[in-house]
Amino acid sequence: MASPKTIEIVKSTVPVLEEHGTTITKVFYQNMFAEHPELLDIFNETNQKIGRQQNALASTVLAAAKHLDQLEVLLPQVTQISHKHRALQIKPEHYPIVGKHLLGAIKEVLGDAANDDIINAWAEAYGDIAEVFIQLEQAMYEQAMWDGFASFKVVDKTLTGTDIAAFTVVPNPDATSQNSDEAQNIDLDKLTLTAGQYITVKTDPEDSDHLALRHYSLCSTHTDKGIQFAVRRDNRDEHRGLVSNHLHDNVEVGDTLLLSAPAGDFALDSSLIMQNEIPLALISAGVGITPVLAMLEAQVSANPKRPIIWAYACQNAEHHAFKARVEALLEQAEQVEKHIFYSEEGQLLNEEWLATLPVPADVYTCGSMAFMDSIIDGLIALKHSADSVHYEPFGPKMSLKTA
Ligand SMILES: Cc1cc2nc3c(=O)[nH]c(=O)nc-3n(C[C@H](O)[C@H](O)[C@H](O)COP(=O)(O)OP(=O)(O)OC[C@H]3O[C@@H](n4cnc5c(N)ncnc54)[C@H](O)[C@@H]3O)c2cc1C
Ligand code: HEM
Repeated sequence: MASPKTIEIVKSTVPVLEEHGTTITKVFYQNMFAEHPELLDIFNETNQKIGRQQNALASTVLAAAKHLDQLEVLLPQVTQISHKHRALQIKPEHYPIVGKHLLGAIKEVLGDAANDDIINAWAEAYGDIAEVFIQLEQAMYEQAMWDGFASFKVVDKTLTGTDIAAFTVVPNPDATSQNSDEAQNIDLDKLTLTAGQYITVKTDPEDSDHLALRHYSLCSTHTDKGIQFAVRRDNRDEHRGLVSNHLHDNVEVGDTLLLSAPAGDFALDSSLIMQNEIPLALISAGVGITPVLAMLEAQVSANPKRPIIWAYACQNAEHHAFKARVEALLEQAEQVEKHIFYSEEGQLLNEEWLATLPVPADVYTCGSMAFMDSIIDGLIALKHSADSVHYEPFGPKMSLKTA
């Protein structure tokens, strides 16, 4: 652990660095990508282009530095980030690169004030923080169901709702061992998938000079047909989402996709699955249905007696995703409440409805950032304990107001 002197120096410089967060982030990424253009194949290009959540990495280092003497308190946040890093295949050798450019950016911001003591203290602090990530990620690499990005073949692609394509993929029998990562003899029957986890797809879209990685939640844990995930075409105004449109327009049955092994810690509370007093409430909107659909399936397979409250919001009946599958699963459960909200018909999943939920309930929610913020805020205001409200943002977790 860092010495008391280092901790004191680092903590005293955090406020001024936080004030200049945007400059640090800009200098950091500019210099890092100039020296390591290969990292553009790992980082999300759209996030870089539109400056969205770019500061997650740098500002987390600053936030962690405040807890340098008790880094263990950050374990839940670090675990969640480490799952993403493992899914993206961030390796120990990447950490010194980030460290070098973060220190460079800190020097630039502090200017003449950055004496040797300060720079050395920050180098030590970053080393300690990086070590926590590296250790945790090592354990995740060891437990991963397969190494790196393995080749899968698309065996089914079906549109559900108007803009969500559900993909089923199986290990690619034609993958050659020329690229050892891609051909791995994965046996579907031996995979144990957990509801709530996501796989990560590595693509090479025509519209980009770089590879592009994106996470997609599993929408089933059954592997008899293959691994299933679903992708919404992510278009906003005139902007077309890079990977989602590529998957919709250019990836068909028979094509191959590179996937890294399932990751993530959004999962049903295993201590509650077999009991029947505390209901399971699954609340989602739009494509946010994917992880909670897998959870619904997992719950009814394990214990159909547990009361289930299913709430789903979307624009209208045409946008309603996985309608028949959800109904079939809900029929298997013994006590069900189903609530569907079509916003175009003025049906709102709002605080008034949230107030009808029993307390306690074991709640899992997924949807847009605004949707999740309102659900989490609403439930906490209604005296649901924070521990009983679980969520998975489809973007950096820290961009949630309530995270
Ligand atoms: C844990 C996790 C699980 C996820 N699970 C799912 C899932 O099950 N299903 C699913 O569909 N998605 C899921 N996502 C989201 C998914 O990973 C992608 O973020 C999503 O598909 C968008 O990627 P894209 O490449 O299509 O869009 P990007 O190119 O990354 O663009 C993102 C958004 O920005 C907009 N945009 C692009 N360029 C500009 C610009 N210049 N100015 C303004 N706006 C712009 C785009 O229109 C788009 O709406 C998940 C994300 C996470 C983190
Ligand atoms: C101690 C050092 C690090 C910290 C504190 C950190 C922190 C973070 C955080 C907070 C996120 C957002 C997580 C989310 O989506 O919820 C993130 C994502 C990410 N990190 Fe790290 N990180 C570190 C090191 C690294 C390294 C060494 C690399 C690789 C060079 C890396 C690459 C990425 C990538 C590619 C993403 C996804 C975001 C994007 O593509 O825009 N990180 N990191």
